[in-house]
Amino acid sequence: MTLQAEIQRRRTFAIISHPDAGKTTLTEKLLLYGGAIDRAGSVKGREGAGHAQSDWMSIEQERGISVTSAAMQFDFKGFAINLLDTPGHQDFSEDTYRALTAADSVVMLLDCAKGVEEQTKKLFRVASERKLPIFTFVNKLDRPGREPIDLIDEVEELFGLHAVPMTWPIGSGPDFKGVYVRATGQIALFERAKKGQKAQLVGKGTLEDPEVAELLTARELKQLRDDIDLMDTVLPAFDKEAFLRGEQSPLFFGSAVNNFGVGDFLDVFVDMAPAPGPRPTLDGGAIQPDQKGFTAFVFKVQANMNKAHRDRVAFARIVSGKFERGMDALHVREKKSLKLNYPHMFFGRERTIVDEAWPGDILGLINPGQFRIGDVLSSAGPVTFHAVPRFSPEQFVSVRLADPGARKGFLKGLQQIAEEGVVQVFWPKGGAPLPILGAVGRLQFEVLQHRLKDEYACQVVLEPRSFQMARWLEGGWPEPNKFWGELVEDADGNPAILFENDWQRRTTAEKNPELHFLVHPAR
Ligand code: G4P
Repeated sequence: MTLQAEIQRRRTFAIISHPDAGKTTLTEKLLLYGGAIDRAGSVKGREGAGHAQSDWMSIEQERGISVTSAAMQFDFKGFAINLLDTPGHQDFSEDTYRALTAADSVVMLLDCAKGVEEQTKKLFRVASERKLPIFTFVNKLDRPGREPIDLIDEVEELFGLHAVPMTWPIGSGPDFKGVYVRATGQIALFERAKKGQKAQLVGKGTLEDPEVAELLTARELKQLRDDIDLMDTVLPAFDKEAFLRGEQSPLFFGSAVNNFGVGDFLDVFVDMAPAPGPRPTLDGGAIQPDQKGFTAFVFKVQANMNKAHRDRVAFARIVSGKFERGMDALHVREKKSLKLNYPHMFFGRERTIVDEAWPGDILGLINPGQFRIGDVLSSAGPVTFHAVPRFSPEQFVSVRLADPGARKGFLKGLQQIAEEGVVQVFWPKGGAPLPILGAVGRLQFEVLQHRLKDEYACQVVLEPRSFQMARWLEGGWPEPNKFWGELVEDADGNPAILFENDWQRRTTAEKNPELHFLVHPAR
């Protein structure tokens, strides 16, 4: 297939939602439809533990949360779909923000009873800043929930986004029977599925079809006719350009756990979701996906993907050109050429070596420390894309090693996990031996503690610190007795100060007018 044909059949997207809306379940069902798994929670030919394959680290399994983002590829009707897994828990939103830099569209998943929730709002903002086209999937229709029109109004009020129904629910709660597909006028009626199986389609046809009509009560038929009238008269018509501009959102209804409406969603999704497009560069230009030269950027680094391998993987999204195993590419930050011999594609815990890959695909590069988030690989000369977002820590702890003999593993673990962007490590100036960790959410410390024990065999004790913010210093250190807070160096040796409150920050800034206080280290 040509480069252009491979680009056109790629769809790279992420699901954004508040925890518990059903993202893991929907992911499983999409993989099921794509034939990537043959039973929800299992990779083909293997018994799974009842978790989506994206949910692979032990802490995730123990706590039932998805902590890290990985990407999974599956085929559907000739399309190659890359689904970026995004953690639902807000303490890991940085990971999600970064994953969104690798997506071409997003699916906003709502619980029909709860509508738009806090985490959905935050993630929506990031997706919309990136101008990503947004699909909306309203889940859990098998449970009592809010009126569809009410949800449409909420999305419009909060986000200024016009949600335009592509499907419409027939019944709700225990009487949820299926969906009406507006584009075709087809009705799909389902019977609830047994756990892990596709829902049984019990009827498909138009409203005029007597066999379909028979499966609905007179009341349900009337309600559906009224709803269709309402949609056609009151709601705006779907406009693909407005969707691509982020002004309209195609809206779907279903129940992921029962497999209702998931296939209907996927049919429309592959048709409407944008293929990989151009990516702006810092010099004001853009890299077109079909340019011959290969370019990619790292949006995620993950240590110990597989404990048996003990390796670090850098996930890179291909922006342009064909990737071939063994090809040379420039590591733009380090200004050196690399031979990319062992690129992997990951599927949960499974990994396979890839011989070729295309724009939109996610490559897993084994990373013995040479890749950082934001790094660019290019066979087309030096290219710089806009930075992958970084976040300033707001929570801090001191970390003490329980067994001083394990210091080597401790330092290695700290460094490797910090490279992933899970936490930031600060060393008090003057050589105090206890590092201070900073993170956006407290759960990240727990993950670090668990992973240090599990992956690096060292037990640590965490002691909360009352700092609230970190500022990196440009222009040197403040004068003695003219600062408040604690002077520290970050993992790269950059000078910084940790402050307990805004008064300390302001006063220190006033007393040291020659210094600049930055929210992130200058690159
Ligand atoms: P998340 O990744 O967004 O956090 O959500 P997840 O898929 O884990 O789903 C959260 C809960 O919602 C799960 O129930 C799941 O089964 C349920 N769920 C998902 N989709 C639907 C749906 O369409 N209808 C209904 N009624 N429930 C749905 P749980 O009790 O937490 O776990 P489990 O024991 O069912 O796995």
